[in-house]
Amino acid sequence: MIFQQFFEKQSSTYTYLIACEQSREAVLIDPVVSEIEKYAEVLQSQNLVLSYSLDTHVHADHVTAANSLRSKFGCKTVIHRHSGVACADIYITDRSAIRIGQILIEARYTPGHTRACTSYVTEGMVFTGDALLIDGCGRTDFQEGDAATLYDSIHQQIFTLPDETVIYPGHDYRGRFSTTVQHERLHNSRLGQGRSKAEFIDIMANLNLPYPEKIDVALPANQACGQS
Ligand SMILES: [Fe+2]
Repeated sequence: MIFQQFFEKQSSTYTYLIACEQSREAVLIDPVVSEIEKYAEVLQSQNLVLSYSLDTHVHADHVTAANSLRSKFGCKTVIHRHSGVACADIYITDRSAIRIGQILIEARYTPGHTRACTSYVTEGMVFTGDALLIDGCGRTDFQEGDAATLYDSIHQQIFTLPDETVIYPGHDYRGRFSTTVQHERLHNSRLGQGRSKAEFIDIMANLNLPYPEKIDVALPANQACGQS
């Protein structure tokens, strides 16, 4: 497997490239529109064909590169069927899968940060988007978010993966790259440490976060697959 993590500084977003060494097919998870030249460079230098652009959810803090990548490379765009996005090529549901060569990438429906949040599981790795972050999680007060739902998603869909599974989040604001299922189950200050659902709901209800800065631009753009 070929694997690369990209970082977009403005929104502290992580994007992931996964590719099959044999077939040279690739996917990008949560690509950012401002970064497509970087992705193009890597695809070209490694002789890869971009087959799919996957979004974990409809982002509120950056604009997806889905449509730009589709125009440039002819890839298919993928998002959950509850996203409300009308222009995607493939709508996934829980446990549906995308194949690139020898690699199977399975979707796990993990709503709660938004209604359409999906994590992607492959070969000892899980890409959680904003559902589960390193020692944190996405906010639950916009985009039909719901703390009780997020608690169930993480406990049922992520903490049940093998302990050593590496978690690659959609963001990190402190320079960390990844974590593991065991580490988050034991140490995540909101969702781990044996916290109850009631405790988690209380934590999320008292975060007092500001209105998301980019949401009024990013949401309509992402509902259109990133077209401006
Ligand atoms: Fe998000």
